[in-house]
Amino acid sequence: MRNKVSIIGAGMTGSTTAQWLAEKEIADIVLVDVIEGVPQGKALDLQQALPVVGKDVWVTGSNDYHATADSDIIVITAGLPRKPGMSRDDLLQANAEIVRSATTATIKSSPNAIFVVLTNPLDVMAYLTMKIADIPPQRVIGQAGILDSARMRAFVSMELGVSVENIHCYVLGGHGDDMVPLTRTSNVAGIPLDEILPADRLAAIVERTRKGGGEIVNLLKTSSAYYAPAASLTQMVDAIIKDKHLIVPAAAYLSGEYGLRDIFFGVPVQIGRKGVEKIYEYRLNSEDLKALQKSAAGVAENITKLKI
Ligand SMILES: NC(=O)c1ccc[n+]([C@@H]2O[C@H](COP(=O)([O-])OP(=O)(O)OC[C@H]3O[C@@H](n4cnc5c(N)ncnc54)[C@H](O)[C@@H]3O)[C@@H](O)[C@H]2O)c1
Repeated sequence: MRNKVSIIGAGMTGSTTAQWLAEKEIADIVLVDVIEGVPQGKALDLQQALPVVGKDVWVTGSNDYHATADSDIIVITAGLPRKPGMSRDDLLQANAEIVRSATTATIKSSPNAIFVVLTNPLDVMAYLTMKIADIPPQRVIGQAGILDSARMRAFVSMELGVSVENIHCYVLGGHGDDMVPLTRTSNVAGIPLDEILPADRLAAIVERTRKGGGEIVNLLKTSSAYYAPAASLTQMVDAIIKDKHLIVPAAAYLSGEYGLRDIFFGVPVQIGRKGVEKIYEYRLNSEDLKALQKSAAGVAENITKLKI
């Protein structure tokens, strides 16, 4: 039996994720979108690329959720992206309706699927998915932390001229401007960032990481980032399918970890075939803890606004 991954939303991140996944040859892929012809056209185009790159998976596009039946993983990217000047929170009500309908439609015919959520505001949409699907929290994971940490890794690499493979960064918290890039736990080949970088350069990298999504929205103007978000989704899907027990920063449901409850929030999460296997708790200093609490308050406020 081949693995099946359905991606809801065949826009920029959805279709780019399909491409990265097809190149990994780990699952058949279904793209679903409300726009007639778009998922079908993108799926067919991608299918026709695969003889060239030598990969054997089936890629299907549809406007009908029936095509997603018996998926192992449902990736939710459907929703509006930000435009210049918008915050992720501005998308709350419109995207909640989209995520609600996508979850209701997919859980029926894929009752055992793991849900990987991307739609913004991310932490709240992951919470909504868990509630609507009415499944154990371990089966819902939100993607944000891999992306935010990858941005920080890229900036450190650009600053030091060191391979990205040597750079390990951990950005925790909600996926918004209050996210918490850790400067002591993050390291270059084991050397904490706050030892290897001068304080002013480190502060600049932290600030650029927090605003990393907005920087790209301002440059692209008509879309938000999609290569790095899609690569991040792909790493999560790969870890689930291969049961890798991979530890990544991601949004998971908290029941007391970091002093937080009943919230989806970015923390170090071990993921495998069953979804979230374990949440790790760093020993944080009081400054980082305070920053995490501030970020959590913003996510909790948005959850309340949704009246789920
Ligand atoms: N969490 C993250 O790190 C992160 C990163 C990038 C983007 N995002 C978010 O992901 C979402 C998608 O971003 P994008 O750049 O791919 O946007 P996009 O506009 O390119 O694609 C979104 C697609 O969703 C489709 N859609 C809308 N309603 C739908 C429905 N009910 N069912 C199926 N499809 C539907 C649209 O037709 C569109 O093709 C946005 O909310 C964006 O803010 C989050």
